[in-house]
Amino acid sequence: MSHFVSGFWSYFIAIITLGGIAFCLWLLFTQRAWLGRTVPQAQDTGHVWDGDLTELNTPVPRWWTVFYIGLCVIALGILFLYPGLGDYRGTLGYTSAQQVKDQQEALRRQIEPLYARYREMPIEAIAGDESARQIGQRLFLNNCAQCHGSDARGAASFPNLTDNDWLHGGEPAQIMQTIAKGRHGMMPAWSAAIKPDEAGNIAQYVRSLSGLASDPLRVVLGKEGFQNFCVACHGVDGKGNQAVGAPNLTDRVWLYGSSEAAIVETILKGRENIMPAQEGVLTEDQIRMLTAWVWGLGRRDGEGGR
Ligand code: HEC
Ligand code: HEC
Repeated sequence: MSHFVSGFWSYFIAIITLGGIAFCLWLLFTQRAWLGRTVPQAQDTGHVWDGDLTELNTPVPRWWTVFYIGLCVIALGILFLYPGLGDYRGTLGYTSAQQVKDQQEALRRQIEPLYARYREMPIEAIAGDESARQIGQRLFLNNCAQCHGSDARGAASFPNLTDNDWLHGGEPAQIMQTIAKGRHGMMPAWSAAIKPDEAGNIAQYVRSLSGLASDPLRVVLGKEGFQNFCVACHGVDGKGNQAVGAPNLTDRVWLYGSSEAAIVETILKGRENIMPAQEGVLTEDQIRMLTAWVWGLGRRDGEGGR
């Protein structure tokens, strides 16, 4: 398969590359005074600067020319063995992708014994092991911190993993499932069924669920809308449902914010949130280490969260 949009570029590159080498050799040939048995002496061009700086026309030294021809031969050899001339692959079959793969494989073999210890250990035991915790932390910083924060406390739309409040469940098996297979949080948009002022009332009711300041009159109005549209996922009591990833709305832990405006936006526009699957990116061993590390987070920081 060509890496180029058209076959032309492959020839274009090959011709420029070979042409460059041919040009060098031609240039050396035009300066072939050194071919003679005795290299002629430097000629005085007759130009003089500052009274005593004379310009000489010195022939190219023989050693330099031989050296340069050697470089051209080496270049041709490399282009014969390795990719360099457009689509031509080289006789060694080298690719940088294969090199990376080989290096990864070598690294995997090197760290294999590190993980072997933990393979038979239950997640709870791994979470209590100090060196496993260090491995987990490093894996987290390299692979997860860009979204969940280096302290794992998350940010808007990225859940806090330290607070024992789980969208998808905090048991080891559930966390492992989240990491390996990813999650797709989907709150449908209601703008077709719910008017903005009704959404505002529902938002007031949602705020009242976790004891936030709310307008009692609008809470009563909003409650009805909530019963009609929201209980299917968030439950009659608003405590959520981990099977569909619907958050608990009574706990003062907010993915998108607790203001009326933020809640109205969630109701009218919906929310879509993706935790990318790590299977195939990380090894099974690494996913186990991360599961233990994440599971241990909430326990170490104390039950109950913020
Ligand atoms: C590209 C951003 C991104 C990266 C990288 C990422 N996550 Fe997530 N993660 C998310 C989002 C977004 C969610 C919330 C999904 C939802 O709303 O249902 C999430 C959810 C989770 C959850 C579920 C939390 C809950 O309350 O149930 C866990 C556990 C988790 N991530 C762990 C990890 C680990 C471990 C890594 C590193 C391997 C990682 N994440 C990497 C974005 C990311
Ligand atoms: C089909 C199931 C479903 C229905 C019905 C539903 N939601 Fe949701 N809701 C979700 C899911 C799933 C999320 C989490 C989205 C994510 O992970 O980003 C969510 C998120 C939210 C949030 C954000 C919570 C936070 O922590 O910031 C609010 C608020 C909310 N829903 C309110 C409502 C209200 C009010 C209704 C009724 C009008 C409703 N939902 C109906 C599934 C649903």
